[in-house]
Amino acid sequence: MKYADRVDSFCGEATDAWDIHVTAAQRKSEGQDIILLSVGNTDFETPEPVVEAAYNSLLRGRTNYPTISGELDLRQVIAERHSRKTGLQVSPDQVLVTLGAQHALYNVAQCLLDPGCEAIVPEPMYLTYPATINAAGGDIVRVASRAENDFHPTVEDIASAITDKTRAIFFATPNNPTGAVYPRKLLEGIAELCCEHDLWLVSDEVYGDITYGYEHISPAILPGMDSRAVTISSLSKSHAMAGWRLGWAIVPMELAGHLGRLILCGTYGSPTFIQDAAIVALQENPDGLADMKPTYEDRRLRVCGFLDKLPGLSCKPPQGGMFAMLDVRGTGLSAQEYATRLLDDQGVATLPTTPFGPSATGFLRLNLGVEDVLLDDAIERIAAFNGTLNFFTAK
Ligand SMILES: Cc1ncc(COP(=O)(O)O)c(C=O)c1O
Repeated sequence: MKYADRVDSFCGEATDAWDIHVTAAQRKSEGQDIILLSVGNTDFETPEPVVEAAYNSLLRGRTNYPTISGELDLRQVIAERHSRKTGLQVSPDQVLVTLGAQHALYNVAQCLLDPGCEAIVPEPMYLTYPATINAAGGDIVRVASRAENDFHPTVEDIASAITDKTRAIFFATPNNPTGAVYPRKLLEGIAELCCEHDLWLVSDEVYGDITYGYEHISPAILPGMDSRAVTISSLSKSHAMAGWRLGWAIVPMELAGHLGRLILCGTYGSPTFIQDAAIVALQENPDGLADMKPTYEDRRLRVCGFLDKLPGLSCKPPQGGMFAMLDVRGTGLSAQEYATRLLDDQGVATLPTTPFGPSATGFLRLNLGVEDVLLDDAIERIAAFNGTLNFFTAK
């Protein structure tokens, strides 16, 4: 049978990124003693009132077709929340409700990129970005965010990546996997480039509520951004609702029209009972689950403080998000080798981050959304494995 040429664009290059996780999950399902730090799930549960809201909505018969761009009352709540956080006046008509942030990223890429266009993305980047951009016909142009610079890209590097084909800059702040929270000066520099070269700025803020003493700034607030900034977020991370598939994009009015028509022919909107529950989620916890951030904050200090002291390892606490980056370069092993041997030896699954981008080579991503008792067990096991390695270190 024949397929469209574009099917080849649906996968990024990072297909082997999950190898260790898949092996570990298989071993766990066979009853082996495995701790999974490799995937971005959370041990927090969706709050009961949110679950009840969905249930009650279904009982009330909210089972008809939704409004394509999202129910007005939810779009109002999202617009008001955005206004409160940013000081910007946003109309509910600028808000599009989507099936998670990923769906928003996909739809936005479809509306902004033509075949042959370039989208600049600082790497390391979330693993779906290459396929999302390629599926729209765009070419991804990677800009390094170096570990020595807290995994922040530089304005100069981004500027030198701009060509006459560049249409947009995409990034996530805070970043997955690095946790980097982009500071104001960097965002101002990027925003100026966007104005100068007439580019879109797509800001993925799914971890925007989860920062540790670093200010999360939506670049939409910066001068000149009202006509070119796209702000994407969701309830997946901040509200422990990844499986509900509820996200949104906040966009300039004209783009809202294009996105609305794309959503119509893609999904025909999001389930109404989930949108009803989303309103409760945002009203009860407008800034994310109250106890999530302090819990992750405590875990990040504990995990990084402990691992950083081990020979050959370095682990800087992340600025935001739900992952810690463990630097294993000092052990002389590649991240892949370290992770494979750690899994075989101690049953701890971690995610080597090279597939997120070359700047993350030599690092392992550790999920902090894991119960304390398991997390403590995992770091003790990492210490035990690390102790078996035979290398000289100055520490
Ligand atoms: C940076 C980033 N953006 C987007 C997503 C997708 O989020 P959602 O579940 O809302 O689609 C994730 C999920 O891990 C992520 O880390």
